[in-house]
Amino acid sequence: MTSQPQESVPSHVCIIMDGNGRWAKKRLMPRGYGHRQGVETTRRAVEFFASAGITHLTLFAFSSENWNRPDEEVNGLMELFMQSLQKYTSELHEKGIRIRFIGNRAMFSEDLQQKISETEVITGNNSVMTLNIAANYGGQWDIVNAARTLAEQVSEGEITSAQIDEQVFRQELSLGDSPDPDLFIRTGGEHRISNFLLWQLAYAEFYFCDQLWPDFSDSDMRAALTEYAQRQRRYGKTGEQIEAAN
Ligand code: IPE
Ligand code: IPE
Ligand code: MG
Repeated sequence: MTSQPQESVPSHVCIIMDGNGRWAKKRLMPRGYGHRQGVETTRRAVEFFASAGITHLTLFAFSSENWNRPDEEVNGLMELFMQSLQKYTSELHEKGIRIRFIGNRAMFSEDLQQKISETEVITGNNSVMTLNIAANYGGQWDIVNAARTLAEQVSEGEITSAQIDEQVFRQELSLGDSPDPDLFIRTGGEHRISNFLLWQLAYAEFYFCDQLWPDFSDSDMRAALTEYAQRQRRYGKTGEQIEAAN
């Protein structure tokens, strides 16, 4: 992926990995079969985006609303998270990838919480790419959490309410120490955010793809980066202003 000029490569890509269930259904298989196949795509995606020079990759693995699925599917997903961490952490660590989790982890089993912390510690000093895994994550939860933290700081007298601005607020959000996503990808054909990074996506470029997640190939990933490179990001300015600055 060295063919694109540097500035046209996003720093931060985030993905809603959607379509595992439909992929399995098309094959008359249980949904869990699709989720297992989805892990393989996730592994390929991490490798692809790391070698493309992306420094932050955020993947939506389980939303705060996904608890509403049948127990059997939720339990299967929890088992799959655990197995995937056991299987892939050392491989990712060797590749220099730092793994972090965003979302409310308190709702996971003790074992899974421990595995999550362990993974974060083991990979904590890696610098090739930061892989953020959104698990039991919701964008509204994230914003409410930040608001609560700031309200507590105000009531403790640490800051005044007048000091709360966009910069202060964003630091209390998940990924507050990372650049906002430049490119948002959703596979599976749906055109919605589904409570993913609501605040952080303010100026992301959106890319929707009909491929179901297990079918999302390296050439589909490349197509998303090529499309991104052709977008003009204006941040409220005119196209002429942007061209003049380049
Ligand atoms: C995304 O695939 C994975 C998770 C939500 C965990 P889905 O399971 O939503 O697949 P579809 O949308 O039903 O095909
Ligand atoms: C979003 O996908 C969550 C993940 C991919 C983890 P969903 O499949 O849960 O989203 P909706 O329900 O179609 O909006
Ligand atoms: Mg879905």
